[in-house]
Amino acid sequence: MCQAPVEIEAGLAEKANCPDVYKVYWYLNSVGMRYLCRMKLIDTHTHLYLEEFEPDRAEIIGRAVAAGVDIMMLPNIDSSSLEPMLMLAEDFPGNCFPMIGLHPTSVKENYRDELALVEKMLQAKNFFGIGECGIDLYWDKTFAREQEYVFRHHIELAAGSGLPLVIHIRESFNEVIRILKEVNNPDLKGIFHCFSGSVEQAKQATGLGFSLGLGGVITFKNNKMQETLKHIDLKHLVLETDAPFLAPVPYRGKRNEPAYIPLIAEKVAEITGTAVEEIAEATSRNAMRLFFPEGKA
Ligand code: NI
Repeated sequence: MCQAPVEIEAGLAEKANCPDVYKVYWYLNSVGMRYLCRMKLIDTHTHLYLEEFEPDRAEIIGRAVAAGVDIMMLPNIDSSSLEPMLMLAEDFPGNCFPMIGLHPTSVKENYRDELALVEKMLQAKNFFGIGECGIDLYWDKTFAREQEYVFRHHIELAAGSGLPLVIHIRESFNEVIRILKEVNNPDLKGIFHCFSGSVEQAKQATGLGFSLGLGGVITFKNNKMQETLKHIDLKHLVLETDAPFLAPVPYRGKRNEPAYIPLIAEKVAEITGTAVEEIAEATSRNAMRLFFPEGKA
């Protein structure tokens, strides 16, 4: 068992012959020996293409890579976010990977046109996931029926393409589970984005073959996910920021960014009593298996 990082030294990466600029920590192991750890992390959910990041996007990606977060998965929102998302993926081909989908809060009167565009894009370009999709009953229930229709359509697209689903479940966990059970396709895989439910709910989701996305919320005081987490196997977890939203402590309320993933990993390590590098390794492996089952090009 090792403890939290005790110091970060300048020039350590060079000394350890690490060619990359990853975050390097010294850890104390059980017998008090210092050893070196280079964490590699994946942000499975970031909206870096949004205008909040317009002024300093390249610096943000630089900070993420320096923090060990060299893979950033980009869930789409709707037709308005498509072009900036694809441009970002084109500008940072080794770091930013786009998904295609229609966010449930963007399901409005024109949902058929939006859905047609999602389908057209999926045929035309290379995407790494279907999302962000799902159901949101928190903001507006006006289009609840249409949201379900659109979500079911995304499930079909995931089944047809073999891509993972990235599912938004705000105030809609039971609806999402009901739909996935009705569809009953054991080949489906993906992430319950921003999961913060009970142990029972976690088991329902993982029982259907889905992973749980953990973000900044896990660092907030008194959130019930901290207790749930103690009962969940690491093999079901992936990390995410949902940037620019939901920044972890100590940046709560500020703009979130992928470089904060280590803060989430450290909190998960603390709660589960696991070494942080083990959290990094497990969550990265889980994310790779989902998004790059044949390895990263
Ligand atoms: Ni999102």
